Parts: sequence; C-alpha cells; structure tokens
Amino acid sequence: MIRPSLWILAWIASVVQYATAVPTWPSSIDELEDIMFLNTGYRSRGFAVAVTPCSFSAQGNGRIAAAEWIRTAFHDMATGSVFTGIGGLDASLVFETNGGENIGAAFNTTLTTFAPFLSSRASMADIIAMGVYTAVRSCGGPVVPVRTGRIDATAAGPEGVPLPQNPTGTFINQFARVGFNTTEMIAVTACGHTLGGVHAADFPQIVAAGTVANDFQHFDSTTIFDEKVASEFVSGTTTNPLVVGPSVGNGRNSDGRVFAADGNVTIKAMANPSTFASTCRTVLQKLIDVVPSGTALTDSITPYEVKPYAVQLTLLDGGATISFTGDIRVRTTVRPASQIANVQLVYKDRSGGTSCGSCIINTSYKGAAAGFDDSFTVRSFKKTTSVF
Ligand SMILES: *[C@@H]1O[C@H](CO)[C@@H](O)[C@H](O)[C@H]1NC(C)=O
Ligand SMILES: *[C@@H]1O[C@H](CO)[C@@H](O)[C@H](O)[C@H]1NC(C)=O
Ligand SMILES: *[C@@H]1O[C@H](CO)[C@@H](O)[C@H](O)[C@H]1NC(C)=O
Ligand SMILES: *[C@@H]1O[C@H](CO)[C@@H](O)[C@H](O)[C@H]1NC(C)=O
Repeated sequence: MIRPSLWILAWIASVVQYATAVPTWPSSIDELEDIMFLNTGYRSRGFAVAVTPCSFSAQGNGRIAAAEWIRTAFHDMATGSVFTGIGGLDASLVFETNGGENIGAAFNTTLTTFAPFLSSRASMADIIAMGVYTAVRSCGGPVVPVRTGRIDATAAGPEGVPLPQNPTGTFINQFARVGFNTTEMIAVTACGHTLGGVHAADFPQIVAAGTVANDFQHFDSTTIFDEKVASEFVSGTTTNPLVVGPSVGNGRNSDGRVFAADGNVTIKAMANPSTFASTCRTVLQKLIDVVPSGTALTDSITPYEVKPYAVQLTLLDGGATISFTGDIRVRTTVRPASQIANVQLVYKDRSGGTSCGSCIINTSYKGAAAGFDDSFTVRSFKKTTSVF
C-alpha cells in the first residue's frame, strides 16, 4: 500500500540551495504560512486584499486599513505587562472595543476583516500579528518576522493604552511595562505613525473638524511606510497633529513629546530611510512578540520550498484500486518556474521495495501563486493503482 506521509518527497529538476532552515510539513505553522505567502493566484488566501494598495480602505476615503491594522496590534498588546506576565498580544481587544481607551471604528473594522481567517489553526492573536507583517509590507516597509502560537484571551484585559494626553513620564512607564525602553518607545511610535493619521471625529481636540480633507490629518506627507514621520519632525516641516496644531495647547502633542524624550537622538537617526526600516523591523517584531507568560512561540514563519495540499487516498472499484491525489506547491522565488521541467513524487511499496515499478508519480501544472516577496508554482497529481 502507498504510504503517503512518507512518500511525499517531490524531486525537483534543479539544484537547490537552502539559505535558511526550512519547515518540515506538516507543522503548526501551515495555515498561517498560507495566509502569509499566498496573496494572489492559485489557492490564494487574499489576506492582503484589504490593505492593497497601501492607501486602501474598504470603508472609503479618509480611512487607511493598513494603519488601522498596526494600530489594532498596538492597542491589543499595549496593556500587557512583562512584570506580571499578564496580557500582551492576545486578542483581548475583541472584548475592549466599546469605547474607553480604544476610540474609533478602526478596531471593529479590523477585527471584522480578520474574522474569516480565524480557525483552530490560526488564533486571532496570531492573525493580528500577521496583520502587522502584511500591512507594513503592503506599504513598502520591511519584512517583520512572524512567529505563531499566540493564544486568544477569553475576556477583556486590563487598561493601560498610552493616550495622547498622558505625561511623558507616564508614557515611559507604560512602555517599560511592555518591555520597551525609551529608545524603543520612540522608535515604535514613529514606526506606527508612518501610516495613517488622526480623525477629527474621534479626537476633536487634536484635529478640528472642517480643517482637513475627510477630517483626517495624516501623520506625514506620504501614504507609504517610510521615514517621513521622522525626517519631517527633525526638519521642522511636520504636519503631524500629535506634534503641531491644537494638540500643543492642550497637552495632547504626544508624538512631539515622545520623539524628543531622548533629546531627539533616536528620531534623528530614524530620519535615515534604511535606519528607519531596519529599526522598525526590530521594534515591530518586538511589539507582536509581547505575549502572556507561558505562551510558546514557534520560530519565525519561512515559506516551504515544497508543500503538499489536499493529499487524499480514495478507495475505488470496491476496494480493488486506490486513488492518490493532491497538489504540490514549489517555491519559485529563487528557482525560476521556467527551469522546473517536472515535479515527481518518488515512492516505494509497503516493504520498501519497487514492486510499484517505476515508483514515480508525475505531476501536471495547476497554477501559480505569489506573496509580497515569494512566488510559487503548483502542480497536481493523481495516481490510481491496484498495487498495494
Ligand atoms: C464596536 O463593536 C462593539 C461590539 O459590537 C460595539 O459595542 C461598539 O460600539 C463598536 N464600536 C464602534 C466605534 O463602532
Ligand atoms: C534600549 O534597548 C535597546 C535594545 O536592547 C538598546 O540598543 C538601547 O541602547 C536601549 N536604550 C536605552 C535608553 O537603554
Ligand atoms: C527636537 O526636535 C524638535 C523638532 O525639530 C525641536 O523643536 C526640539 O527643540 C528638539 N529638541 C532638542 C533637545 O534638540
Ligand atoms: C513521467 O514523466 C516523464 C517525462 O517528464 C516520462 O518520461 C515518464 O515516463 C513519466 N513517468 C510516469 C510514471 O508517468
């Protein structure tokens, strides 16, 4: 009999050099790996659709879903404590969207967008983390590594989201509670605020109604993930409503105070585009990896070189024959699809021998798929045999 779990060894007609450790299928990352890498094409999951292009929101003008996804992750984790081990990125925000510290429609919209992806193999907390990777990358930002294994809270968590009117010392303490020192506080604030802005309807003391398009004041002059939020602050040209405007008079100029908390050292460094990107990669990963104590996170998700799908054995002809079917996805990022002549499954019979004859199952082209940085080709196979 064919033993599928052992013989799904696709043989690829090219020399492969593996730069990093690749996952072994099956694994707990499998569902999230699909959500992360199959943006378009065959078997696409379409997670990135809601943040593509970067400026998009299904809610229309004046909303930016990518910014809201990052804000969602921050508001979820910001009430955690590395001292008590309670809270962090645990989707407790699901129970905390009725006002209070989580003002505005962004959180409900984001969680509703994420809901179809929730399953026993993808917790909402992991999906929120994936949202940071997806939103940042869709906007041209760095690759934020995503680990999995977050466990969803079953009730609201404590309060403690940093709010614009808080004194600077309170910000420093609140960020220290989630494990961020002052440098990291400044960096993660800038990284989060390179996208989006402030809505007059939610924060009338920060943006006055009727003063900007859509009553939505952006943090910087671009709608991509770039260093402008930092460089425009440093050069004195910023229009960030948390730095200039009415917020200065009523103490809600939180970005101005946070950015200056170390004498502008960090924000000046982040005015450099490559420093901005690399710093954001580090602090945004740190942000999504603040999890309740006892949570065991996996290694960062990397794409499989070869991944099977829908592998199925079916008895036919009253049990006289057996059909073995499925798909094989091959990563073509560094191994051009054009150089793959064939993909074959090589197997052996139940005693490890070759009574199966050539013991090869050929595959045929099924489709192509792509993520932000990876491409794939998918081939399917169907073998019917009476030898088992
Ligand atoms: C978000 O959803 C919750 C639960 O349905 C509701 O109580 C709350 O009013 C909503 N918030 C906004 C801003 O729409
Ligand atoms: C904050 O932590 C980072 C990473 O460990 C470190 O590089 C930086 O110097 C620290 N900053 C302060 C102010 O301690
Ligand atoms: C920090 O930068 C801001 C904006 O350019 C400026 O107003 C402030 O004086 C600077 N602070 C220090 C200590 O350099
Ligand atoms: C598989 O395909 C190759 C050509 O790529 C062909 O030579 C071979 O006979 C096929 N084997 C089977 C078992 O269909």
